[in-house]
Amino acid sequence: MQENPAKVQKLKAKPTVFKLGGSAVTRKEKPLTPNLQAIRRLANEISQANVSPLVLVHGGGSFGHPVAEKYGIKEGYKEPSQIMGFAKTHQAMTKLNKLIVDSLINHNIPAVEVQPSSCVVTKSGRIQSMEEKPLIKMLETGFVPVLYGDAVLDLETGFAILSGDQLVSSLAIRLNADRIVIGADVNGIYTADPKIDPSARLIQRITLNELKSLQHKIEGAKATDVTGGMLGKMLELMPAVEKGIRTMIVNATKPNMVYKALKNEKVVGTIIEKGETVV
Ligand code: IPE
Repeated sequence: MQENPAKVQKLKAKPTVFKLGGSAVTRKEKPLTPNLQAIRRLANEISQANVSPLVLVHGGGSFGHPVAEKYGIKEGYKEPSQIMGFAKTHQAMTKLNKLIVDSLINHNIPAVEVQPSSCVVTKSGRIQSMEEKPLIKMLETGFVPVLYGDAVLDLETGFAILSGDQLVSSLAIRLNADRIVIGADVNGIYTADPKIDPSARLIQRITLNELKSLQHKIEGAKATDVTGGMLGKMLELMPAVEKGIRTMIVNATKPNMVYKALKNEKVVGTIIEKGETVV
């Protein structure tokens, strides 16, 4: 799971890597339906917080996941009809990306799409290489690159689904990030699934070891999610947390949570920290 890029070109200022979960920007139960109100509100919060350098990554929600699932993209290349499925999965993601980039630009953020399928190659679903020079140059110049979970080419399986979460972790390590902020559709990590268990309690701070022991209790999201639901997301962040990158999960569906997290203000959420050495 852990990735070790051979050479990390250091940026002068350490960036913040911010993920907008697909369920915060789309109507997760309705295929190909954006939540435009949420997109606009979040663009405004990001603009008000005025964080620099900033890398944005968004998820698929009801855009990428149902299409990827329909064509079995995650399972790799098995038969020719999937070629069109790959194209349609990517197309769905670029549609969502355009809505997000448009809204960011409307809020005076110099957002530029960076297409993961053009700069990342995976091997059995794990990032094998990433062309990061344009990204670094963009950040140095003052742009806000906007990436997303995408269908990508895979050296072993033909193609794969690269989740926004794997991308976040990898980008944070490669760009020597200061911190990761995850905007989810829940307040953070709970002791049980809050959607089905009323006794579930929000955990404000959790170490990697504690997270590992909680794994079996965390339920995956119920709606179609070809990249592993909540548990998969937390696991993906581990390599970056292990490198000491501060990581926080907040609820992006509630107003001002993202703003406060980006501003480093006190906010309801879960901080994942390295804690003692993990074996
Ligand atoms: C999924 O990205 C991208 C595709 C299915 C193409 P994510 O796994 O990061 O999306 P969310 O945040 O869970 O919706």
